[in-house]
Amino acid sequence: MNSPVRVVTLDGPSGSGKGTISRAVARHLGWHLLDSGALYRLVALAGRERGLERGDAQGHARIAGTMAVRFDAAADEEHILLEGREVTDAIRSEEVGQSASRVAAWPAVREALLERQRAFAVPPGLVADGRDMGTVVFPQAPLKIFLTANPEERARRRYNQLKQKGSSASLSALSREIAERDARDSSRAAAPLVPAADAVVIDSTRLDIEAVLGQVIELGRRRALWA
Ligand code: DC
Repeated sequence: MNSPVRVVTLDGPSGSGKGTISRAVARHLGWHLLDSGALYRLVALAGRERGLERGDAQGHARIAGTMAVRFDAAADEEHILLEGREVTDAIRSEEVGQSASRVAAWPAVREALLERQRAFAVPPGLVADGRDMGTVVFPQAPLKIFLTANPEERARRRYNQLKQKGSSASLSALSREIAERDARDSSRAAAPLVPAADAVVIDSTRLDIEAVLGQVIELGRRRALWA
């Protein structure tokens, strides 16, 4: 846990821009990226494909501990493989997001993913994107960001993302689903979505990607994490 590898954590609710910003920070620094939400999504997808009962916490925890996952980032393209099969798009649906939020509430699933996530911290450094990166997975990280945006803006961003991918989506249904997922992620007993006590909170509602990226890079510079 006292890993000497530099880690920057980026936590926040869905649609806050964490994913985009984490990727941009990792690319800017030439560091590795952990998309921890993808791991929860993979557990949910694998559980569904294997016909597990929705309430089967132990079955999902077993999957979390044993599933074969590969993250490939070539140029600007991301490929996520589950048991050797491409599931990059399959895990991004709103439906899988909802299931992921449900399986993520089980402590056994979170426990099974803990060391897997920590194993991503390898030189030269790691940008870790999620809900509990700063509170549970990398509590010693020297820079923790908590990214927020108001709910309307987050629903709008998610809507645009899904449309870009060619999925049909309704803005009002998305707003409802995001509110539901936020409430579940924030109120669960195990590793709820809360800023770490030492996190810097950035509200991105009126900021574009460049502006948020600039703030994160400046924060790391001031802490002498990079030049
Ligand atoms: O970031 P995302 O939308 O891909 O995450 C999907 C779900 O996974 C989210 O609703 C809650 C859960 N999750 C979590 O509990 N802890 C994390 N570190 C990342 C995601």
